[in-house]
Amino acid sequence: ETIIKRVKKGQLDKDSIEMAGAILKKGGLVAFPTETVYGLGADALNEKAAEKIYAAKGRPSDNPLIVHITNLGALEKITKNVPEETKKIADAYWPGPLTMIFEKSEAVPYGTTGGLDTVAVRMPSDEVARALIDVGGGYIAAPSANTSGRPSPTMAEHVEEDLTGRIDMILDGGPVSIGLESTILDMTVTPPMILRPGAITKEMLEACIGEVTVDKAVIKPNQRPKAPGMKYRHYAPKADLSIVEGEMSKVISKINELAAEQVKAGHKVGIIGTEESVANYICGDVKSIGTREDESTIAVHLFAILREFDADQVDYIYSESFDTEGIGSAIMNRLLKAAGHHVITV
Ligand code: TXA
Ligand code: MG
Repeated sequence: ETIIKRVKKGQLDKDSIEMAGAILKKGGLVAFPTETVYGLGADALNEKAAEKIYAAKGRPSDNPLIVHITNLGALEKITKNVPEETKKIADAYWPGPLTMIFEKSEAVPYGTTGGLDTVAVRMPSDEVARALIDVGGGYIAAPSANTSGRPSPTMAEHVEEDLTGRIDMILDGGPVSIGLESTILDMTVTPPMILRPGAITKEMLEACIGEVTVDKAVIKPNQRPKAPGMKYRHYAPKADLSIVEGEMSKVISKINELAAEQVKAGHKVGIIGTEESVANYICGDVKSIGTREDESTIAVHLFAILREFDADQVDYIYSESFDTEGIGSAIMNRLLKAAGHHVITV
């Protein structure tokens, strides 16, 4: 039985948070909101507890977890040889949607790091997440709270869909504000390397510490990614998803042509357009993902739209392509993975 409790931002229900904290301390599993996506939490320093996460998600055991903390003091206990630039980055972007990788200390069990000698650490800004981490012991391992392979959850309802009956509790803090997982920055190499793009961009990190590189696997298909989790088919809808890129008017006619063909063949078609374009599509289940005027609106709806198309049981999805400036690089990274890199250029 999974307990579900609503928690309102600004007036946290202390009893629910304390109940959740007690579950974590006893080695149980609690899903909770963060500003990026919902996480599935367990005590990071309790190997048995962390291992339960893998079973609940159906996650391969070589895929390491991120340890969530609420203050810089907590970093010392779980890491070794933290490089100097870390403080600059932490001052600028923690708490926030950024994860950094360091050498791990003995305090962190291999069950949490997937057998690696490094540990990923994040300090989230979400109020519910922070309250829970503090009452839960200060070190909470949490991957995204979805079944492995499904799009990450951006609302408590998504967590319920995937994990009800498999975990002890869900804290429902409403929809998240960012919608894509944190940027992952490997601090064990010089210069530091981005292993997964997110809301904290390369430009933002470079403004703070100078040169930062990006793992090739972030943009190109068929490269072995350095973050173990990035190699799995991820974020994938059940439908066959294609991205159509090129000049906007040509993209719209191409999508209309492809959609019409599939509809004629008796298939169910979904289309991902924007506020600016949706009125131009003539058949299929057309959804607006957000506005090109503000790409954060696109980021926040991406995973929910992929889930909606799953629920509608569409066979084919055609999506417009997006700029790779700012958070756009994270949007396209997730969209390309969801599409298995199937891109049609017009
Ligand atoms: O925004 C987020 O980061 C969310 C929220 C809940 O904090 N969490 C999240 O966790 O996205 P997860 O487990 O879905 O993704 C973690 C990624 C995986 O690709 C994993 O392989 C990588 O981080 N990772 C974790 N520890 C690592 C390590 N020591 N070295 C390299 N990659 C690591
Ligand atoms: Mg995940």
